Amino acid sequence: MILIGERLQLSPMQLGDIGEVRAIEIDVFPTPWPSNAYHRELTSNRSAHYLCLWRNGVIAAYGGLWGVGEEAHVTTIGVRRLDQGKGLGRVMFAALVTRAYDLGANFISLEVRPTNEVAIHLYESFGFKVMARRRGYYTDNGEDAMVMWSDLIHAPAFKARFLSIAGALEVEGFGPLPSAEWPRS
Ligand SMILES: CC(C)(COP(=O)(O)OP(=O)(O)OC[C@H]1O[C@@H](n2cnc3c(N)ncnc32)[C@H](O)[C@@H]1OP(=O)(O)O)[C@@H](O)C(=O)NCCC(=O)NCCS
Repeated sequence: MILIGERLQLSPMQLGDIGEVRAIEIDVFPTPWPSNAYHRELTSNRSAHYLCLWRNGVIAAYGGLWGVGEEAHVTTIGVRRLDQGKGLGRVMFAALVTRAYDLGANFISLEVRPTNEVAIHLYESFGFKVMARRRGYYTDNGEDAMVMWSDLIHAPAFKARFLSIAGALEVEGFGPLPSAEWPRS
């Protein structure tokens, strides 16, 4: 777990962060995005929202989503290998869910490899469920993708679970949590 006294900060991803993000991505993903993908996302995709999580001044995790109408789709989440298993993926995922609330989304979706037990466990702990399977989705090995969806994120059970996770985090720049009131305020 994260050690007491560590300084965690969240910030929107900037063009100057792309080098560090790419270095993490190349290390932890079997098929990293093409080299210009983050630049394009940050400069030309108005639906895209990317965040960096800094641990003691170094980018330790990043993640992003697209906000499209009532759906927020998580496009990526990665934690520096050295920092995996310390709760930072949970912090980043909670930050993405918070962003989905900010964007006025109703549901969150994502794709994950069926072999990625850590990621699936993380998403299930927020109440996400496997709703579909895309055959041969991953081009590197032909692996299927599991498509996971949240419930309605304003539903009391989903929101209560989210608030109990996010409310325990101490991260600078996390921003206000959504109100516990139904449906939103
Ligand atoms: C998946 C990933 C984002 C998770 O982030 P993380 O910081 O390693 O995970 P956390 O420490 O926040 O732990 C999340 C949960 O997974 C569990 N977990 C973490 N590492 C684990 C491991 N090696 N084995 C089993 N469970 C593990 C944790 O115990 C925690 O569950 P709990 O709160 O019920 O105990 C990160 O491992 C990663 O970047 N992996 C490579 C890229 C990737 O697969 N991204 C997701 C694509 S869909």
